[in-house]
Amino acid sequence: MNDEIKFLDFTYMNAQVRASMLKQFENVFDSQWYILGDRVKQFEKIYADANEVKHCVGVANGLDALILCLKALDVKAGDEVIVPSNTYIASWLAISYVGATPVPVEPNQNTYNISPEKIKSAITKKTKVIMPVHLYGQACEMDAILKIAEENNLYVLEDNAQAQGSSYNGKLTGSFGHINATSFYPGKNLGAYGDAGAVTTNDDSLSDKVKVLRNYGSQKKYFNEIKGVNSRLDELQAAFLSVKINYLAQWNAERNTIAEGYNEGLSSIKNISIPQLAEGATSNYHLYVIRTEMRDALAEHLKKNAIGSLIHYPVPPHLQEAYRELGYKKGDFPLAENIAETCLSLPIYPGMKKEQLDSIVNCIGEFF
Ligand SMILES: Cc1ncc(COP(=O)(O)O)c(C=O)c1O
Repeated sequence: MNDEIKFLDFTYMNAQVRASMLKQFENVFDSQWYILGDRVKQFEKIYADANEVKHCVGVANGLDALILCLKALDVKAGDEVIVPSNTYIASWLAISYVGATPVPVEPNQNTYNISPEKIKSAITKKTKVIMPVHLYGQACEMDAILKIAEENNLYVLEDNAQAQGSSYNGKLTGSFGHINATSFYPGKNLGAYGDAGAVTTNDDSLSDKVKVLRNYGSQKKYFNEIKGVNSRLDELQAAFLSVKINYLAQWNAERNTIAEGYNEGLSSIKNISIPQLAEGATSNYHLYVIRTEMRDALAEHLKKNAIGSLIHYPVPPHLQEAYRELGYKKGDFPLAENIAETCLSLPIYPGMKKEQLDSIVNCIGEFF
């Protein structure tokens, strides 16, 4: 039996930042200022600059970031939002929380990202927003999506939760849309040590709206212009993220090296599809997802050999109990359903060793 290979292991990343994180904790602790202070402002500036956008607004998590983006765009009951059929449910939930309707569109079967061609036929008079999700870390085909949005007078809201540092034709994800959301959930490529998220935009007025919405609808303490929520990034997470962002490029490069190793080792196995990138797209390899008809048996084989794996995601949103009200049934979005039945995410993280990669590849080879 091999030593255990976890699906995700923070040991190497944590060792690199441990001393700085403890220092940041001490600084914030001693500052006696824990919510919406200088550290949040500083991180917002750093994140906006790093993503080449004018504004970043720190919020409590990725789901809230999406909800606040939709609220800032004034999306409400009666509106439709185009969303991938095969995304994480958070993308759909945000739409539902503002009272609008998610309109699922199937992905390109090679990249797993929303198909620009299929977006066109999903547009109706009620459509207000297109929400591309850069799934598993790969950038969507943004040029085509922006063109469709412009031709149909629609907003674009990127769900950039999984793709920090990825790009399309050289431009970073999270900088294309009218307004965009990201998550700093600990397992994300830029992860906090708790929940955290952010909104990015080049639009002054949308940025101002989100700033007011995240803080009870108030700019001036105890004076409320609108009914907002409490969804603020806290000083501690902002301080942590300001340090961690310096490691993002290096850690994404390490993930890319591992992905290349997988591609090389797995491409000759007939029964597996390995991830493919669209022309012009890069991936931060938040996840390395293969597909095989023998998914469950392979996952079991890996488990027996002490290798972690996960399924992203086992049930597509349209078949979730939570979305029964939309009346979808099995067969309505066959690509999303097939991906859910055949996908398997393999371990990938900065610090994963060549020997670990080799033993995973060998274990998969042995299975087939
Ligand atoms: C695609 C996508 N959108 C939104 C979210 C929501 O982020 P959070 O968990 O920070 O609320 C996530 C992550 O969980 C995600 O993967």
